[in-house]
Amino acid sequence: MLQKDINNALNNQINVEFFSSYIYLAMSAYFSEHNLAGFARWMYLQSVEETEHGMRIFNYIIERAGEVELKGLEEPAHAYGSPLAAFEAALIHEQKVNKSIASLYEME
Ligand SMILES: [Fe+2]
Repeated sequence: MLQKDINNALNNQINVEFFSSYIYLAMSAYFSEHNLAGFARWMYLQSVEETEHGMRIFNYIIERAGEVELKGLEEPAHAYGSPLAAFEAALIHEQKVNKSIASLYEME
């Protein structure tokens, strides 16, 4: 059985991971629209990886008889000023996710 606060934090992290997946999928579409197939493919793979992270936490909660609570996803941006701006947005997002993961590790 999971502690309630840890269970809640893990549910929030599922949302962070799936939102990341959604952002990278939107970026993949943006790159496709701009005929940047390599960037599009790379972002698509990042999206799949983030979904896998979310599923890992989902399964972790289930295996420990916790309670999965899926939350709504924010709408990701559909356009960026340039390919570089998209990658800069991805970096800023990854830095936020990193902080979120770090705060999970600090929980007792
Ligand atoms: Fe992730």
